[in-house]
Amino acid sequence: MALYELSGISRTYHMGEIAVTALQAVDLVIDIGELIAVMGPSGSGKSTLCHLLGLLDAPTSGQILMDGQDLSTLEEGRRASLRNQKIGFVFQDFSLVPVLSALENVQLPLMFHAGGVHHSGRRAAEALAAVGLAEHAHHRPNQLSGGQQQRVAIARALVTEAEVVIADEPTANLDSESAAGIMELIVKLNAERKTTFLLSTHDARLLAHIPRKIVLRDGRIVEDRREAAS
Ligand SMILES: Nc1ncnc2c1ncn2[C@@H]1O[C@H](COP(=O)(O)OP(=O)(O)O)[C@@H](O)[C@H]1O
Ligand SMILES: [Mg+2]
Repeated sequence: MALYELSGISRTYHMGEIAVTALQAVDLVIDIGELIAVMGPSGSGKSTLCHLLGLLDAPTSGQILMDGQDLSTLEEGRRASLRNQKIGFVFQDFSLVPVLSALENVQLPLMFHAGGVHHSGRRAAEALAAVGLAEHAHHRPNQLSGGQQQRVAIARALVTEAEVVIADEPTANLDSESAAGIMELIVKLNAERKTTFLLSTHDARLLAHIPRKIVLRDGRIVEDRREAAS
C-alpha cells in the first residue's frame, strides 16, 4: 500500500530575481513500512524533499498523495493536523528543549495530539525505553551525549505513533560510532514497529542495512535502488 505518491513534483525557491529549482519533475512512490535513505551531495534537494513529505512545505507544481489524499487540496489547518497525527520529525541538530528532561521532551508532542495527554508519561517512558534510554528519562539534553540526544528526538518522533518518521541528516552532527548506532536503531525500529522511515544523509558508509536508497542530484532522482533483504 502506498503511503506517498509523488508525481511531477517540482519546488522552486524565488529570491528576488533569482529562481532556484531545488526539486525537478520527481516521481516517487513510498509504501507503508518502507525504510528509505535519500542520498546526494549538499544542495541536491534532500531537505526540500523531506519538507515536502513532512507537510512543512508545498510543491511549486505536481501532485502529492498521502494515504490516497491529495495534499494540495487541503487547507492549512487540515495540513497541520495531518502533520501532527501522521508525521514525526528528526532534525540534524536534535531540536530538544534544553530546560526539559528527556521524558518531558518526548511527552511534548502528546500535548498537541488528539487523546494524547492521557497516559502521556507512560507512553513517553515506553518510547524512551524503545530507544534504549529508560535509565536517562530525567536527564536534561546537556547531560546527554549527541547520540543519546538524537535517540530522545527519535523517541519524540515515535511517541505519537506517527505513520512515518522523516529524519533529515539525523547523523550529520554525530561522531561515526554514534552515527552507526543511530542507523542501527532506525533499522531495528522499522523492523519491530513497522513504522515507515525516510532519512537523508550524504554519508554512504552508514547505509549497509538500508533496503532502499534514492540518490538525488541537482533536484532529480538519478538512482532508486532496492537491495534484497539481508
Ligand atoms: N529556503 C530556501 N530559499 C532559497 N533556496 C533554497 C531554500 N532552501 C533550499 N534552497 C536551495 O535549493 C537547493 C536544494 O537545497 P536543499 O533541499 O536544502 O538540499 P540538501 O538538503 O540536499 O543540501 C539548493 O540549491 C539550495 O540552495
Ligand atoms: Mg539538507
